[in-house]
Amino acid sequence: MLPPILKNLRIPVVGSPMFIVSGPELVIAQCKAGIVGSFPALNAREKDGDPIQLDLWLTRIQEELDRHNQANPDRPAAPFAVNQIVHRSNARLERDLEICHRHKVPIWITSLGAREDVNHAAHDCGGIVLHDVINNTFAKKAISKGADGLIAVAAGAGGHAGPESPFALIQEIRAWFDGPLLLSGAISTGRAVLAAQVMGADLAYIGSRFIASDEAHAEPAYKQMIVDSGAEDIVNSAYFTGVPGNYLMPSVVNTGMDLALLGTGDPSKMDFGSASAGHSDKPKAWSQIWGCGQGIGAVDAVEPAGAIIDRLAREYAEAKAAVSAL
Ligand SMILES: Cc1cc2nc3c(=O)[nH]c(=O)nc-3n(C[C@H](O)[C@H](O)[C@H](O)COP(=O)(O)O)c2cc1C
Repeated sequence: MLPPILKNLRIPVVGSPMFIVSGPELVIAQCKAGIVGSFPALNAREKDGDPIQLDLWLTRIQEELDRHNQANPDRPAAPFAVNQIVHRSNARLERDLEICHRHKVPIWITSLGAREDVNHAAHDCGGIVLHDVINNTFAKKAISKGADGLIAVAAGAGGHAGPESPFALIQEIRAWFDGPLLLSGAISTGRAVLAAQVMGADLAYIGSRFIASDEAHAEPAYKQMIVDSGAEDIVNSAYFTGVPGNYLMPSVVNTGMDLALLGTGDPSKMDFGSASAGHSDKPKAWSQIWGCGQGIGAVDAVEPAGAIIDRLAREYAEAKAAVSAL
């Protein structure tokens, strides 16, 4: 069962939150084009004494989407989401929760920790919570703590990916959970969005495809590396942040680091307090070591997010027609 807020999207897609990469421009473009746009609250940073960026970003997103809806009542914008990293190293969490509550953020995406008080805060302002998980045990825990829906982060996803096949993960969660279920990992085409639904998910959760968009906060060389790379260029390593993540191998090579270190990593060193969320003595994930999922073989140009979503919608409709003709 999908809550009303996740129904009536142009295509069943959520643009996933990406550290550093997702900001108001990308979120606004995604929502205007009909899919949920999202960003990590931690991306909105200010210098000491400056106005609170998260407050400014939320005001801007809400005003621009309101204006769009008034001008286009026939194709209103999709809702937006904010991602909270629920980890002990995130010293801003309480402040960010208060700001999101005050702005009545409609969709809250929580990562790493499942906490009842965070879910209460979201529900109290009319929002829903989608919690991201890499296995069935974490999925059960998240729902028992009051999350409304789950994001199954499968192997091949950009960022902190899980180790499990999407088939295995969706099958195990769907055996007991009939609420909103999103699939994350290497989804880049409309056909793959439909495949996620056929597998049992309600919506697809797409990240890396949007790094190669005009609106993404990523340097041109990062965007171009995504255009030039494929699944074979993605390396999985826990070395940079302490937990396994997928990265563009050419960006690792560019730092000149000893590649033998890729097989090592220490989870106790995870730190979301700094702007790059890595250890202090090594190349920085995500600013130097570029996060990316395996689905980028489908990316052949840097384009506006709206054009990417138009293509996804076209491919999704074509895939539906092709499948029903089978
Ligand atoms: C560069 C990058 C940064 C990410 N940062 C975050 C983050 O801050 N919070 C989060 O919940 N997920 C983060 N993710 C994971 C995505 O939200 C999502 O699970 C993933 O991108 C989906 O797989 P795909 O990239 O293959 O489409 C990140 C992914 C990438 C590629």
